[in-house]
Amino acid sequence: MKKIGIIVIMAGIIFFAGKTFGFRSHKLVKANDNKLVYVPVNEPAGTKYAKGAKIYKAKCVPCHQLTGMGVPGAFPPLKGSDYLKKNKKSALSHVLNGSSEAVTVNGVSYSISMPPQVDNYPDAVAVVNYILNAWGNNYGTVTLEDAKSIKIVR
Ligand code: HEC
Repeated sequence: MKKIGIIVIMAGIIFFAGKTFGFRSHKLVKANDNKLVYVPVNEPAGTKYAKGAKIYKAKCVPCHQLTGMGVPGAFPPLKGSDYLKKNKKSALSHVLNGSSEAVTVNGVSYSISMPPQVDNYPDAVAVVNYILNAWGNNYGTVTLEDAKSIKIVR
């Protein structure tokens, strides 16, 4: 009888340690629009910028990839991008208006053009703040005022 008790206690400890230290890779969080989204647990930006993470997954992943690494020679990386670090406002204009100018990211030039992705300022701010802080990027944030200084041209 004693043995069973010990086994039950051990199983309990393992179960709660698992919950606490996160054997799960994703968790459900509420985005600003109250919809539930799955974000990686080990990526703090995914929880803090849930709305941006959701927009990123819906719009940017085909080109810049889930990892933010892009596709060599075609789509530039956002993770560790020296261009993004220096041009936060340009990131806003990229998502609002697209870009047909070549950009140089970490020494490599990308000349395919990027189509516009979002049609309003709050979404632009959300997704840009996400990429500024995802994948270990620590590039600060942009504000709604920054976004509003860019004219949406369609
Ligand atoms: C159809 C492919 C495509 C999609 C979708 C796309 N991009 Fe891009 N993106 C590009 C290309 C190509 C470039 C480089 C050319 C340029 O900047 O004109 C680029 C450049 C960028 C840059 C500047 C360069 C850098 O790497 O720092 C940022 C920031 C960026 N994209 C963010 C985003 C975000 C955020 C989204 C989603 C809201 C997105 N892109 C969706 C193709 C895409």
